[in-house]
Amino acid sequence: MSLTGANETEAMAAHPAIAGLASPLLSAEGVTVRYGDFHALSEVSLALAPLGIHAVIGPNGAGKSTLFNAISGYVRPTKGRVLFDGTNVTGWRPDRLARFGLARSFQISAIFPDLSVEDNLRMALTREVRGLSLLRRRNSLALGEDAERLLVETGLASRRKDRAADLPYGRRRLLELVATLLLKPRLLMLDEPMAGLAREDIPEVTALIARAADHCAVVLVEHNLQVVERLAGEVTVLAAGKLLSRGSYRQVAADPRVREAYIGESTHD
Ligand SMILES: Nc1ncnc2c1ncn2[C@@H]1O[C@H](COP(=O)(O)OP(=O)(O)OP(=O)(O)O)[C@@H](O)[C@H]1O
Ligand SMILES: [Mg+2]
Repeated sequence: MSLTGANETEAMAAHPAIAGLASPLLSAEGVTVRYGDFHALSEVSLALAPLGIHAVIGPNGAGKSTLFNAISGYVRPTKGRVLFDGTNVTGWRPDRLARFGLARSFQISAIFPDLSVEDNLRMALTREVRGLSLLRRRNSLALGEDAERLLVETGLASRRKDRAADLPYGRRRLLELVATLLLKPRLLMLDEPMAGLAREDIPEVTALIARAADHCAVVLVEHNLQVVERLAGEVTVLAAGKLLSRGSYRQVAADPRVREAYIGESTHD
């Protein structure tokens, strides 16, 4: 299937989402995903700077996860393309994208429940090193500075010998995020990182994501709008598979179309 002709590429270059960033780390251009006759996503574009946090919000069924799936290789776009660091990665498998620096967390669980916290981090580190047999070297492999720092920052250091399965849910989420960060992704994609978290766990996960964004690009789908307001420099709003609004949180929150889309959702619930 021909995804993009030259004319289409020129037209897309003029798209505001693409034109606004001098050299985006990621640009999804005119991404369309159809299931039969149903358009789950229609001509959606997204450009992400190399650092900072972008949020994708919208009512249930808006196409947020579909956009993530199309970018991270879980679904092949029917139309459009995805460029990562200038390379056309459209249709690449998730594992190849991960090796290229695109990590999607909370989807492929990085956590092994029967391993301890620190062995989980060793596992994450070991995956980076080709040919290293984890089972043989696990106990002798030093965690290294980054892992030690993240353990302390997240408060997981005191539970380093505990089995991951024995951690409360919020701690497990933090561990998953830490394990993903150890892979040093260039782009971290988080689909609803706060889902299922107790209220008291939200500030810690929020803070970890904020710090991660000093080192990589983060794009997150999140229904908790307080978290979006706190974290996101730019927000994309989708509704019914289409781009509805884009701007700062303040800008999109003031957009009457956005308000209408959310009101429409609440009357359906
Ligand atoms: N594999 C599929 N086959 C058919 N339809 C699908 C498939 N995956 C998603 N859809 C439909 O595409 C639309 C967008 O789904 P998507 O999961 O992207 O929404 P979302 O914005 O992530 O919603 P939520 O906030 O509920 O997670 C929905 O109507 C959904 O039912
Ligand atoms: Mg979703």
